[in-house]
Amino acid sequence: MAEKQGYRHFMLKEIYEQKQAIQETLLGRLDRDTYSVSFEHFNFEEKYLKNINRIFLVACGTAYHACLIGKFLLEDHLKIPCEVDIGSEFRYRNPPIDRDTLLIAISQSGETADTLAALREAKKKGAKTAAICNVLGSTITREVDGVVYTHAGPEIGVASTKAFTSQLTALYLITLNMGILRESIDLAEAKNFTKELARIPLMVKNILDKEIKNIKEISHKYSKKTDFLYLGRNINYPIALEGALKLKEISYIHAEGYPAGEMKHGPIALIDEDLPVVVIANKSAVYEKILSNIEEVKARDGKVIAIATEGDQKIKELADDVIYVPETLDIFTPILNTIPLQLISYYIARNLGCDIDQPRNLAKSVTVE
Ligand code: AGP
Repeated sequence: MAEKQGYRHFMLKEIYEQKQAIQETLLGRLDRDTYSVSFEHFNFEEKYLKNINRIFLVACGTAYHACLIGKFLLEDHLKIPCEVDIGSEFRYRNPPIDRDTLLIAISQSGETADTLAALREAKKKGAKTAAICNVLGSTITREVDGVVYTHAGPEIGVASTKAFTSQLTALYLITLNMGILRESIDLAEAKNFTKELARIPLMVKNILDKEIKNIKEISHKYSKKTDFLYLGRNINYPIALEGALKLKEISYIHAEGYPAGEMKHGPIALIDEDLPVVVIANKSAVYEKILSNIEEVKARDGKVIAIATEGDQKIKELADDVIYVPETLDIFTPILNTIPLQLISYYIARNLGCDIDQPRNLAKSVTVE
């Protein structure tokens, strides 16, 4: 109990530690005066960083979802083609790799065998390698050319929470750092990016302060459901996958995450009054499209739990339940949307009496291939 500092589970403690974890990952790196980023262990030669022609992002599980978001960030801001691979798949598909390829492995533990095997394969083929990792001196960090440590602190709960939002934070820092260097991000954009990124930790705290009661009630309402669908679009599509994974892992409820536009290509067949659909619906470039997805769900009697932008009244008329997150730039919404989804999983699993910190069949670190 002492170790949990009064929280009932490590997972809940770690969800609450996210403001701090993100702050620690930014600390000493994001310069709010010059709108730039510096790293201690990610010091590749400038010439190399300017010449990179392809980036691979490789990981497993939750860290893989961070990679999917990384692709949106890096392609959009660096204009470098970027591929995302699940660790256990990378080595069997033989993608073209050369000296101007960078592989970034993302791992909380730094010990995941599949991610490590992918990393070794890329090195063998001549790529330079980097890692985003939470554990100092772990195997992955010892084998790469550069590391950005997520300073999230030890993560004990098997379900990854603060490590994930810290991984996203590290990806934002890499994007800004490389974008400035490659001149694909100008000063005005760097300023905007820096200012908003620096505000994210407080926004995380706001969600935890303001929405907890609402989230507990919503979780209670849907605890007995046996299937969930999670929908998101664009940079939040990976967050739909992450929300579904979190629910599966700790509550053993079947859940699927989908890009919302794909709903009509299959999952729509599942929708009836017994299917809760969690929809990520921030005010963003794809807002109108998401509203039509919600209407499609409602037309088939599905129940909609929407994650929406504070102040959005329209969504209240459409969705059955709404959880608000603060308004920010589209690119930073994934961090904010993650918080309610972690909490929904946590409280549903708690209502069901599940072993939240040690779910059946799962290990914190998977060191076998
Ligand atoms: C996350 O909730 C999982 N328990 C799992 O998917 C995890 O993210 C995966 O095994 C990768 O672990 P790593 O980050 O330590 O490499």
